[in-house]
Amino acid sequence: MKSKLYGIGVGPGDKELLTVKAVRAIENSDVVIAPSALEGGESIALETAKEYIKEGTEVVIKHFPMGKKNRVEKAKEAYEFIEEKLREGKNVSFLTIGDPYVYSTYIHMLKHMEERGFYVETVPGITSFCAAASLVDRTLVVGDNPLMILPATRVKDIKDEKYVVIMKVYKHEETVVDFLEEKGFDYVYVSRAGREGQLILTDKDEIKKARDYMSLILASRE
Ligand SMILES: C[S@@+](CC[C@H](N)C(=O)[O-])C[C@H]1O[C@@H](n2cnc3c(N)ncnc32)[C@H](O)[C@@H]1O
Repeated sequence: MKSKLYGIGVGPGDKELLTVKAVRAIENSDVVIAPSALEGGESIALETAKEYIKEGTEVVIKHFPMGKKNRVEKAKEAYEFIEEKLREGKNVSFLTIGDPYVYSTYIHMLKHMEERGFYVETVPGITSFCAAASLVDRTLVVGDNPLMILPATRVKDIKDEKYVVIMKVYKHEETVVDFLEEKGFDYVYVSRAGREGQLILTDKDEIKKARDYMSLILASRE
């Protein structure tokens, strides 16, 4: 049988928020690859999925730097490793936080693997913002309104939208909060949704002081 690469969304970090399909794919894998933003660092995706990894499975953390430096070389190294395992006939799971198709390194890897003719199956995951909305009991979008999802660096692109999700808030807390205040939004900041250290903030000064890479803001207005 042909080997398969699974791109698996493991959800926001809560061990109970993986799909049955994700768990089965992980169980069916000979190799599990987990990305880490820091060299030698932990992988949140791996922490989330580890209890579903069968004994004897090869588990590898691959460093995907966030900055420009080393980015291409590190990705190439990871891709080559995955290709080698697939050529050996092994099933490989590549774990991603949230959903694989939302702001994920997986998107680039998938293109690379498909171009080389490998068989890839993507397993969707619960996004961080869907998990956050349930945590704080807040409507993401309703009726015939659009939902705008954008990174904090583009917050000023918000025009007349009523429902927005701002991701990658880290280091942009102040700009985002000031903008939302000025435009009459009601908002909530959520970091580490569903994980240890989870934080929910609504006070603007507290949000401005918060610093967590795993953070987002849900906002809406009348
Ligand atoms: C590289 S993107 C990954 C998004 C992910 N694929 C998803 O579907 O949610 C990283 C951003 O996702 C958000 N994020 C991921 N997990 C989170 C969590 N548990 N709590 C809050 N925000 C989270 C943060 O905005 C972070 O900067």
